[in-house]
Amino acid sequence: PLVSMKEMLEKGKENGYAVGQFNLNNMEYAQAILQAAEEEKSPVILGVSEGAGKYMGGFKVVVAMVKALMEEYGTTVPVAIHLDHGSSFAKCAEAIHAGFTSVMIDGSHFPLEQNISLTQKVVELAHLHGVSVEAELGRIGGQEDDLIVDDAEAAYAIPSECEKLVNETNVDCFAPALGSVHGPYKGEPNLGFDRMEEVMNLVDVPLVLHGGTGIPTKDIQRAISLGTSKINVNTESQIAQAKAVREVLNEKPDIYDPRKYLGPGTEAIKATVKGKMKEFGSSQQA
Ligand code: G3H
Ligand code: ZN
Repeated sequence: PLVSMKEMLEKGKENGYAVGQFNLNNMEYAQAILQAAEEEKSPVILGVSEGAGKYMGGFKVVVAMVKALMEEYGTTVPVAIHLDHGSSFAKCAEAIHAGFTSVMIDGSHFPLEQNISLTQKVVELAHLHGVSVEAELGRIGGQEDDLIVDDAEAAYAIPSECEKLVNETNVDCFAPALGSVHGPYKGEPNLGFDRMEEVMNLVDVPLVLHGGTGIPTKDIQRAISLGTSKINVNTESQIAQAKAVREVLNEKPDIYDPRKYLGPGTEAIKATVKGKMKEFGSSQQA
């Protein structure tokens, strides 16, 4: 069933695992991720960035497509459709009214007070609709769609500010930027685990780790032990899909039927997502 993230993340925090947010880029992603979740018996969060939502034809199209696929597949595991890095109150409202069950309001580039007041406004509307809300503090480096944060701008969240934001906004989960990056890492990721522990002790909502692509298993496990119960993955599925499609097109230069070259890409996304669900510990938890 289509649900908010609230309960699945609280269960994850309680039982020591994380639920994956896997981003959608087109219908093949929705197919691959829903199939993976059902086969792994795992709760799942379908992440939709504003750019990807637009690419797929708009938020309403995304919701209708996901609902139809879930009906077709007879999906039994909990599924949330979540706006990833919502940039404004208007965009969050649009997603909520289109049927999203969860939204992120990313006010991380604003001064603290402005981030808090914007997040409060979104929470007020979202909770009226039973929709969960994620907020962010600090700045996650790298690039996702139009969201670009260069090395100099990337910043670690300050624990006392995290406590203030979470207490004053009543968000359902919280993403403190602690050195993770959107897209591939340059070298080994250097996550701020000491600060993560501090934040965990100051706030009681589940924590979110963005930039899940390329984080070693030991760091994933450490993050989970420090209160992280949502991990976002996008680039890794894209790399797997592109590699598979490229291989088929290179091996068989004469094919043109999209089913023949996109199909293997979809299988590659599915395998990637299933691997992450096992790694995050959410398999067999639905
Ligand atoms: O918000 C989306 C995620 O943080 C994705 O990060 O593309 O590095 O896996 P990633
Ligand atoms: Zn992110």
